[in-house]
Amino acid sequence: MPNTPLSLTVDGLTIPQLGFGTWQLEPADARRMVAEALRIGYRHIDTAWIYRNEAAVGDGIRDSGVAREDIWLTTKIWTAHFEHDALLRQAEESAASLGFTPDLLLLHWPKTSPTFAETLGALNAAKDAGLTRSIGLSNFPSGQFREAQRLSPARLITNQVEYHPYLSLKTLRATAADIGSSITAWSPLAQGKIADDAVIGEIARAHGKSTGQVTLRWLVQQGVIAIPRTLKPERAAENFDIWDFELADEEMARIHALARPDGRLGDWLDKDFKWDKD
Ligand SMILES: NC(=O)c1ccc[n+]([C@@H]2O[C@H](COP(=O)([O-])OP(=O)(O)OC[C@H]3O[C@@H](n4cnc5c(N)ncnc54)[C@H](OP(=O)(O)O)[C@@H]3O)[C@@H](O)[C@H]2O)c1
Repeated sequence: MPNTPLSLTVDGLTIPQLGFGTWQLEPADARRMVAEALRIGYRHIDTAWIYRNEAAVGDGIRDSGVAREDIWLTTKIWTAHFEHDALLRQAEESAASLGFTPDLLLLHWPKTSPTFAETLGALNAAKDAGLTRSIGLSNFPSGQFREAQRLSPARLITNQVEYHPYLSLKTLRATAADIGSSITAWSPLAQGKIADDAVIGEIARAHGKSTGQVTLRWLVQQGVIAIPRTLKPERAAENFDIWDFELADEEMARIHALARPDGRLGDWLDKDFKWDKD
């Protein structure tokens, strides 16, 4: 099997399927680990205004020596900035902090006010003003995902949501496929919980791989983008080493069967919205 990292093409844009996440990384760690991840071979970095590390992520990219055009860079608009002018101001601030125009700008969590029409209008205006190459969503259930796309002239190229073996996401994955978008999995390793999983452990042993590697392979093999995070360079390398093996359909199904109703780890969804049932 060729040892080549996989990517996904959405709306004509090519997105590396394995990215590096930076939530909860203090600026010094974010800078160090982003540079390390890029040296390992990652070409996709995920940050957000609310992580307070955009400037450090930009420094890490510059430290790495990897050319900016070879990297996919995502950041997010925080919910306090969803009014039209505030959104454009944050888009400018994020680009200035990073020192780069991001490839993708997401709405971090859906909220009822201001209206979706205002916020999606502003997000499109940010794209039209050259403050990002593309736009998308994060944490939008199916109904709101469809509504947002209906209101957005530009394609919303991903919906970044919690996804790992303990969640099904069947409906949301079908919605993304139906409207020509994609799913990006946050907490793809269930925040480390996969390390103790007996089923994933058995599959991992059969392939001579780790539970983390099998979990990430399960995600990318579905056509999902995954953005694991670690503070440890050796784990960053381990998590990136998933291109030389393939899971059989039966192994994919066994991992899908681990989904459970209480599998969600991080739920900050506005109470006026509801997650899909499965
Ligand atoms: N859009 C959103 O609302 C949202 C929300 C949450 C996260 N995110 C994004 O998604 C990224 C990833 O999510 P996450 O950080 O919550 O969780 P994650 O990547 O599922 O898990 C990270 C945790 O797992 C450990 N870990 C890393 N590699 C491992 C391996 N191979 N085996 C066992 N444990 C391992 C790490 O510990 P060590 O550091 O000790 O290795 C860390 O504690 C974030 O960094 C962020 O960029 C987005």
